[in-house]
Amino acid sequence: MEPILSVEHLSVSFTRYRRGLSRAELSAIRDLSLTVEPGQVAAVAGESGSGKSLLAHAILHILPRNAKAGGSILYDGAPLTPDRAAALRGREISLIPQGITYLDPLLTVGAQLRRGRTDPDTRSRCRKVLERYGLGAETEGLYPFQLSGGMARRVLIAAAVLDSPRLIVADEPTPGLDVKSARRVLGHFRELAEQGAGVLFITHDLKLALSVADKLVVLREGRTVDELPAADFRRGQGLTHPYTRALWQAMPEHRLW
Ligand SMILES: Nc1ncnc2c1ncn2[C@@H]1O[C@H](COP(=O)(O)OP(=O)(O)O)[C@@H](O)[C@H]1O
Ligand SMILES: [Mg+2]
Repeated sequence: MEPILSVEHLSVSFTRYRRGLSRAELSAIRDLSLTVEPGQVAAVAGESGSGKSLLAHAILHILPRNAKAGGSILYDGAPLTPDRAAALRGREISLIPQGITYLDPLLTVGAQLRRGRTDPDTRSRCRKVLERYGLGAETEGLYPFQLSGGMARRVLIAAAVLDSPRLIVADEPTPGLDVKSARRVLGHFRELAEQGAGVLFITHDLKLALSVADKLVVLREGRTVDELPAADFRRGQGLTHPYTRALWQAMPEHRLW
């Protein structure tokens, strides 16, 4: 199947100016390639600092100004240019950001979800999606400062899935959620995939990734070291890459002693 997203040899670097005007290039992502097909949940697993959030931001074209990106990103077979990304962001392509500071402090939850729309269909979809994540109708009238961390996280997830996106980039969406809420989120990703969306599920939690993913992309220091069917990893078979094998062996359930 034609991928909905292809990231090809992505690189992201930052220029740092030191005292005395000397410049230093810091390369955060060196050579990152992956694909996500419609109907697929692709998990990107990598330790902290391996470039996971930068990958998400590169896809959505929201990298910081001092970042320089190379390589290419294709969405639906065509280059994802800054203009195209801006037009699709929040509609066909949605991000569940890692930080809950992405909520607008000046807007109620309902207003952030509806984004100016007042039609009955939008209103009813808002109510349903909040309900699905265990948030009552009264949540719509609350401002971000009135939400607990877990509630804010669920609001971000609700906002991202409200308009049935075709590509969801979820950057560590579950920390701070109780097990039940986390399961509900992952279950919803699976359901969106079954309806044809592609889900890029970014996490440092390998076990969580394996509980939902079709495919596992292993990231290390800004490079993709491996891309394999999640089933192979679950069985511990055909793990050709030494780093992937080491990850598998490091999981408590696979320890032999
Ligand atoms: N704005 C920035 N300026 C300089 N370095 C950055 C910036 N953002 C991220 N980095 C560096 O890039 C690397 C990857 O960051 P990130 O993608 O946030 O990692 P993670 O996998 O934990 O999400 C880190 O080493 C981080 O220090
Ligand atoms: Mg991150």
